[in-house]
Amino acid sequence: MAVVVHQRGIEDKSGQSAAIQRMFSSIAARYDFLNRFLSLGIDKSWRKKAVDEAWRDSTKTILDVCAGTGDLSLAFMERMKTGRITVSDFCYEMLELAQPKLDRHQHLQSELVQADATCLPFRSGKFDVVGAAFGIRNVTDLDAGIFEMARVARAGGRVVILEFSQPDNSIFSAVYLFYFKHILPLLGRLLSGSHIDAYRYLPKSVLAFATAEELKSRMELAGLVDVSYRKLMCGAVSIHVGNKS
Ligand SMILES: C[S@@+](CC[C@H](N)C(=O)[O-])C[C@H]1O[C@@H](n2cnc3c(N)ncnc32)[C@H](O)[C@@H]1O
Repeated sequence: MAVVVHQRGIEDKSGQSAAIQRMFSSIAARYDFLNRFLSLGIDKSWRKKAVDEAWRDSTKTILDVCAGTGDLSLAFMERMKTGRITVSDFCYEMLELAQPKLDRHQHLQSELVQADATCLPFRSGKFDVVGAAFGIRNVTDLDAGIFEMARVARAGGRVVILEFSQPDNSIFSAVYLFYFKHILPLLGRLLSGSHIDAYRYLPKSVLAFATAEELKSRMELAGLVDVSYRKLMCGAVSIHVGNKS
């Protein structure tokens, strides 16, 4: 399956967005390995929980935004009996690595679409569920990204966002921040072999990102209703779900 490229929003990026795209391209080959290693494998269970939160038996069409190598898509596909999954990201090198994961689920329809999350090439109301795992934090215009996710969800459909957030417990928070600020960038740099400092960017982007409560408000601002969130790992990660009215 070829990656369908949508140039609108891919070219002519602001400096920051282009730098983020380059950074993910540079770590694509080692991304899955590093995710498993740096999260001690827990990241898979977080994606599965996000799927559980978003899932309804009627779910047939799914869009995974900022999908990277397709791990959230994979978690959805493990739940689907029939239907279609669209795997979308602005980084071609990440999307290419999603292909073998889609191939494991030949009974499902799937497509790979290179597109910017702030300018999705899909008609409004197309998908039952629109999800993003650890992706929306990286979108330079967060509100535009959430707005687009809400736009392409059908009325009665759901938007689910799995993201890092700030832990509540002060002792856990201190340990977590030490790991995040000092250990993780070091391990990431050593293991990714990337000359671009992607694993220094990771803690920075997490610490600068919206709190769980703020993200809920931003989802409501995009027109989503009944937005709720569930915290995992003492609040270090959260799953937000909103409905499209
Ligand atoms: C940390 S990875 C997450 C990948 C995957 N969802 C996962 O669960 O592992 C973030 C992804 O967001 C993508 N991304 C960042 N900004 C984007 C944008 N504006 N439009 C589309 N994709 C974007 C990056 O290319 C990268 O693949």
